[in-house]
Amino acid sequence: MSVRIGVDELEGVVEKLRAAGAWTEGSKAVQAVDLQRLDARIEELQRSFPADALHAVAIKAMPLVAVLRRIVSRGAGLEAASWEEVALARAAGCPGDRIVFDGPAKTDEELRAALDLGCWLNADHPRELERLAALGAPGDARVGVRVNPEIGAGSIGFTSTVAKGSKFGVPLRDAPSLRDRFPFLTGLHVHTGSQGCGLDLLTAAAWRTAEIVEQLDLDWLDVGGGLPVRYTDRDPEPPTVAAWAEALAGMPGWGSRRLLTEVGRHVHAGGGITISRIEAVKEVDGEPLLVVHVGADLLLRRVYRPDDWDHEFIVTDPTGRPRQGEARSTKIGGPLCFSGDLLARGRALPEAREGDLLIIRDTGAYTLSMWSRHCSRGLPPVWGLDGGDVERLFAGESPQDVVRFWGG
Ligand SMILES: Cc1ncc(COP(=O)(O)O)c(C=O)c1O
Repeated sequence: MSVRIGVDELEGVVEKLRAAGAWTEGSKAVQAVDLQRLDARIEELQRSFPADALHAVAIKAMPLVAVLRRIVSRGAGLEAASWEEVALARAAGCPGDRIVFDGPAKTDEELRAALDLGCWLNADHPRELERLAALGAPGDARVGVRVNPEIGAGSIGFTSTVAKGSKFGVPLRDAPSLRDRFPFLTGLHVHTGSQGCGLDLLTAAAWRTAEIVEQLDLDWLDVGGGLPVRYTDRDPEPPTVAAWAEALAGMPGWGSRRLLTEVGRHVHAGGGITISRIEAVKEVDGEPLLVVHVGADLLLRRVYRPDDWDHEFIVTDPTGRPRQGEARSTKIGGPLCFSGDLLARGRALPEAREGDLLIIRDTGAYTLSMWSRHCSRGLPPVWGLDGGDVERLFAGESPQDVVRFWGG
């Protein structure tokens, strides 16, 4: 099974959703998540890395509790970037020793609660380590510090984190002195970036950190996430988990010190699609413009930084069969009230009709979690595909839910 839900699968997905009542004539937008693909990604991590490695899947990529529960049921853990995400992990039944708590802004209260929970805790800066010392962090706490090997950025500056001057962590060269000052420090954490970082950069960052873990005789190394994915056929073939593991396999401590990973995007992106009804087709400036029900609210990065983030957009008939007509340069307009809310400009697409579907591939990661409240539209429902079964993972938000959200 390919990592990404293929174009040839879309009609079958729509058919299943319709049969389950998950897509009806009145539906505006829905997300579908292939749970078996999710399982396969986790199994691949478990197969490729040493057996005792903890794969803490990044919650920020996909925070639905039903999905987190599935991840936990497969023996993986969860990476939380906020105390709220730790609460989501707990709600999903994740044991404390499978939760990794990261993030640059943690309060004393959160640090204390994290120590009580017994989760893995990566401090971002020396002040956090000082606070942990003041809180009496015991010698057997799973406390690490995030390091920056300062080796350069990937192709997307905004999501690269091991260039000099990144806002995260401490320079790797400071690790020895921090170890001297804070004897409860038992591991190091490095996260290279999210998308745009090739295997060379990911491997170099982990490798350099592993050398210091070895030198300081620490217990564990968290290599973070960042395994890139393919969003369009124009993108280069991304490295597989097996290739990543193989590239890391010779580094110091492989197989002897405990390894943690925090992959998010690779686990989720390709197994998710978003379907919107094409509400209207307008002719604007000599070009068709498809009016759809998701825009910058769901695909924030795509709309605000289109040069860095793209997706494949497929126009289908109402049953999910891709339209085949002659391609015309087309705009896709989201539902929000600003003129920049465009998912695509000048995209070659076949003629679409009102009531057709726009299916957006690879939307399983960093979409719902980045939802924007602009215009107060409700989050779309999310359905899980599990072979022949279709289960509701998230109800979405009705207008009443949105009123409640805003305190009404
Ligand atoms: C600390 C940390 N770990 C893991 C991840 C997950 O990265 P990705 O989803 O690209 O694998 C992120 C993403 O920003 C992160 O900041």
